[in-house]
Amino acid sequence: MARRVSRRKKPLREDYVLKERNKIESEVFDRASLLALAKLMQKGAIARVEYPISTGKEANVFLATTSTGESVAIKIYKIETTHFLRRKEYLEGDPRFKKFRGRERDFVFAFTQKEFKNLQVCEKAGIHAPRPLSLEKNVLVMEFLGREGRAYPVLSTVGPAEGDLESILEDMKKLYKAGLVHADLSEYNIMVWEGAPYIIDWGQAVALGHKRAEEYLERDIYNILKYFAIFGLKRDPKVILAWIKD
Ligand SMILES: Nc1ncnc2c1ncn2[C@@H]1O[C@H](COP(=O)(O)OP(=O)(O)O)[C@@H](O)[C@H]1O
Ligand SMILES: [Mg+2]
Repeated sequence: MARRVSRRKKPLREDYVLKERNKIESEVFDRASLLALAKLMQKGAIARVEYPISTGKEANVFLATTSTGESVAIKIYKIETTHFLRRKEYLEGDPRFKKFRGRERDFVFAFTQKEFKNLQVCEKAGIHAPRPLSLEKNVLVMEFLGREGRAYPVLSTVGPAEGDLESILEDMKKLYKAGLVHADLSEYNIMVWEGAPYIIDWGQAVALGHKRAEEYLERDIYNILKYFAIFGLKRDPKVILAWIKD
């Protein structure tokens, strides 16, 4: 009762501001994402969300900071999207994940978890990928790849440097040894800087037990070699495939 009275006493302007703020928040983050972010703050994984780095069809990536002022990247998979329907093949065929019968949002949660697990495999295998830091529902916290708040560019925008192709092929071989295939490898999912290039976007990566894993591997090799061929770096895909599987 008392709460109701005090609410009514609130100045109109304040009410309006609050309403507007809620509106803005709900247009950027849905309720589930807000709850997940709050949980990550409670856990101490992040202290503040700073600004968007990338907005995509399936996910948005933001820069966030920890309580010690360290930059981290958060990837928030969209819950209200139909784009995920065509991604089911990557989850259902993966022996690590069961046949999927849940609601769409549970599917999105499983996909986020899959990306997190794949990043853990990469870390263990010594593959150049962002270090996984924390996970909550549809939100993934990982190492920020960039400097002074600016993300490194993707390979497609700046072109390759010497050694990039070799590093990527080495990582593909390590990945295969670790039992995974990326399945969406291209110049758009590789971030570059002065050091070895980083492979990102691991949600759809599948275990070798997936019945189409071989096909995805060949497609990854094809996409990478096609891109580097533009710059005169030609390799025989058959030789590379055999080398990766050796
Ligand atoms: N760990 C990271 N650090 C900095 N920027 C990142 C990181 N991960 C992704 N990004 C940025 O966000 C973009 C989209 O990320 P990605 O994982 O490829 O998602 P999607 O392609 O599904 O939207 C990347 O091209 C890159 O610019
Ligand atoms: Mg991507």
